[in-house]
Amino acid sequence: MKKLVYLAMLLMGLLVLFSGCQKEETTGEAQPGKEKIKPRWTIGMSQCNLGEPWRVQMNLDIKNEAAKHPEIRVVFKDAQNDSLRQRAQIEEFINMGVDLLIVSPKEAAPLTPPVAAAYDRGIPVIVLDRRVLGDKYTCFIGADNKRIGRAVGEWVVKRLGGKGKVVELKGLMTSTPGQERHSGFREGIKGSEIEVIFEADMKWLEPEARKEMESALARFRRIDLVYAHNDPGAHGAYLAAKAAGREKEIIFVGIDGLPHEGQVYVQQGILEASFEYPTGGKEAIQVALEILNGQKVPREIKLPSRVFTRENIDRGGEWLEDQKGEERK
Ligand code: FRU
Repeated sequence: MKKLVYLAMLLMGLLVLFSGCQKEETTGEAQPGKEKIKPRWTIGMSQCNLGEPWRVQMNLDIKNEAAKHPEIRVVFKDAQNDSLRQRAQIEEFINMGVDLLIVSPKEAAPLTPPVAAAYDRGIPVIVLDRRVLGDKYTCFIGADNKRIGRAVGEWVVKRLGGKGKVVELKGLMTSTPGQERHSGFREGIKGSEIEVIFEADMKWLEPEARKEMESALARFRRIDLVYAHNDPGAHGAYLAAKAAGREKEIIFVGIDGLPHEGQVYVQQGILEASFEYPTGGKEAIQVALEILNGQKVPREIKLPSRVFTRENIDRGGEWLEDQKGEERK
C-alpha cells in the first residue's frame, strides 16, 4: 500500500515538473481517428502557476470537464508565479478575442486592472479561487477561506484542550486566501489560551515553509502545533521538525486535502488534519457554459469543504458544519 502511495506521489511530482515546462496548452483539438467538431467558443484560462499539485489538479479538472463539451476549446496559459507575466497573458487573451476568460490570479491588486479591462471589453470573466479587488468580473467561484480558517481555529482549540503554543505559516499575504485563512483562524481561537508564538509568510511554498520552520524551531523549545495555510507548507514544516528530531512532539495541520497529497499525509500520520480546498475547475467550466449560452449566473459561488483526520479519512472525511450537499453536480 505504502509503495503504491509513493508511486502515486512520484507520478504527481513528475506531472508537476512536466506541466511546469509547458506555458500553453489547448483542449478541443482534433484527435487521431476522430472527426473534429469545430468548437464554437474559445475560453482563455490564466493559471498563476503550475508549480504545485493543487494547481495541476485545477487545470486537470477544467480539462476533463471541457472534454465533455466539443463546442468549447480551452487555451491554458501558465504565469509561472509571476504577476507581471500573468497580466501580460490576460492581455494576450483579450487581444486574441477569447469568448470567455477564467482567471486564477496570483495576487489581488496587480491582477485587478487586466481583469477589469477584459470585463469592460465585454468578455465575461470567471475569477477562480483567489480574488481580485472591486467588482469588475462576472462570477467568483471558490471555497470560503475565512470559514475554513475559522474551522481550523476551532479544531485546534479542541485538539489542544484550549491552551498551547502555535506556529502559523501563512500563505502569500498579498493573495486573498492567505488573508482570509489568517483572519478566520484568529476568530476561531479567540477566547482560548492558544498563543501564536511565531508567524511568517511562506508564500504558499514548501521550501519557504521549511526555512521559516527552521527559524521557529531554533527560537522556541516548545511548539505544540503548526498551522500552515496549505498542505505543502505543513509538509515543509514537518520536514524541518523531522530534521531537528522534533516531529513527534508537534501536531501539523494544513489546507487543500488533495487525494494524492494532503489525504495521503493524513493517512501516513504526517498531518493530523487537512481541510479540503476544492479547485473549482469543474464548476468553472459548467458556469462558463451557462454564461456562453446566455444564462444568468450568480455573482458568487461558494464551494463546500471537508476536514480529513485519521479517524474520518476512511469514511471520506467530514463536511464542515452547514456545508454538506452544497456542491454543484
Ligand atoms: C496553490 C495554492 C494552494 C492553496 C491555494 C490558495 O497555488 O497555494 O495550495 O490552497 O493556492 O489560493
